[in-house]
Amino acid sequence: MRIAIFGSGYVGLVTGACLADGGHHVTCVDVDSERVARLRAGESPIWEPGLEELLRGNLAQGRLEFTDDPAEALEDARVAFVAVGTPQAPDGSADLSYVDDVARRIGELARRDLLVVNKSTVPVGTAARVRALIEEGLAARGAGHRVGVASNPEFLKEGAAIADFKHGDRIVVGTEAAEDEELLRLVYEPFNRQREKIIAMDIPSAELTKYAANAMLAAKISFMNEIAAISEAAGADIERVRQGIGSDPRIGYQFLYAGAGYGGSCFPKDVAALAHTARQAGCEPRILDAVEAVNAHQKGTLLRRLDELLPGLAGRTVAVWGLAFKPRTDDVREAPALHLVRGLLAAGCTVRAYDPVAAGTFAAALGEEAARVEFTDSALDAARGADALAICTEWEEFRAFDAEGLAERMAGRLIVDGRNLYDPARVAAAGFAYASVGRRTAGLPAEEGAGQPPAGSPSRAAIPASIRS
Ligand SMILES: NC(=O)c1ccc[n+]([C@@H]2O[C@H](COP(=O)([O-])OP(=O)(O)OC[C@H]3O[C@@H](n4cnc5c(N)ncnc54)[C@H](O)[C@@H]3O)[C@@H](O)[C@H]2O)c1
Repeated sequence: MRIAIFGSGYVGLVTGACLADGGHHVTCVDVDSERVARLRAGESPIWEPGLEELLRGNLAQGRLEFTDDPAEALEDARVAFVAVGTPQAPDGSADLSYVDDVARRIGELARRDLLVVNKSTVPVGTAARVRALIEEGLAARGAGHRVGVASNPEFLKEGAAIADFKHGDRIVVGTEAAEDEELLRLVYEPFNRQREKIIAMDIPSAELTKYAANAMLAAKISFMNEIAAISEAAGADIERVRQGIGSDPRIGYQFLYAGAGYGGSCFPKDVAALAHTARQAGCEPRILDAVEAVNAHQKGTLLRRLDELLPGLAGRTVAVWGLAFKPRTDDVREAPALHLVRGLLAAGCTVRAYDPVAAGTFAAALGEEAARVEFTDSALDAARGADALAICTEWEEFRAFDAEGLAERMAGRLIVDGRNLYDPARVAAAGFAYASVGRRTAGLPAEEGAGQPPAGSPSRAAIPASIRS
């Protein structure tokens, strides 16, 4: 089948490459001409395991094409996916301007019957809005094609996006006509062979399913972070508690980790957008508000621990390991590391940062402040001369504790771990102070190893209140 995909970002590109790999003929269209040029040359603009190979293979086979011309993409397409961004607007709602632009272009350009499929995460009612915009365009030029609209939210996880697309748990399909559902079944046939994965429903339910899924996952994280705070205060160990509750199959072990807060391009904006939808519908989103508030507080946890355990932060050197919002991606949108590094720079620290793949995107997100961060080529190099090490992302390469390597390079002996990677007793036995999330700080007093503040250092009040909270 001939398929057009609007938006060649994480979702559009993975969808396009996988559908092409399944045998469809896919044309991806993006407004970013530079991105299109790179993609045509077989170069992925995002770091996602396996994506570049898939891209190159399908380009070579002629099943995958890229253009910045929507007319070209729509020429023979029977189905057009919308996979453009829906970022957070200032009032917390989803900004639908990119989706609206695509709908208008389709209304102006569609030359044959078409099924438009919303894959972007969009609030309930967006399919109706897209249909109205397309129909306006069709009516303005007297075109009589049937343009159906469907909702097909995406559940892929960055870092495992290709496996998630090809072997996902479910394919949620919201339609209002049997023929549209049938067409989507054909699109997904290559990925629906082992068992029936399609969950068909009405459009508003499909639109809400995506938000409910992300809000539930974010709620699990905030819940565990709240239990972690209680653990710390009450002298319990969150890792024991996690295993104790995860063993109940009604709870399960997945997504049950306390940490430095959730980030990424989805959870923060989706929780806010769902809360906005709830308010508009006259519902009070009490749980969603709490999920967001707990996370906002949690993102400050590493900075607060450093502030507590290093006497006087200004003038200190802090090594930061992990800049992406999670491992196996270079996506730094809303990453806890951004919050930490901005706070450290504001407090007058020197920052040496390392991430296996995300230094470039992190520097771009920091903007001018990036000039004040030293990005290194290895984790141990970042630790050189550091008074403290802060761990923000649980990349595999950080998981084995290298006591010798760190002791040789670090000036201080403090590790603040936002991902609970190590056994506190072992780290303390190696001579480090080790603060993690929801567990007793091991190896104190940290000051002995961390050294005294440089002369004339301002006190902890140097950290702006907005960052401390
Ligand atoms: N990233 C994820 O893990 C993920 C997972 C599931 C769902 N989603 C949702 O999918 C949507 C896309 O997210 P993303 O992370 O892929 O975004 P992204 O920012 O990586 O990519 C969006 C792309 O759309 C392009 N674009 C903007 N306007 C366009 C237009 N008029 N025509 C063609 N292209 C246009 C941009 O240039 C960009 O390349 C969002 O709604 C997001 O919430 C994302």
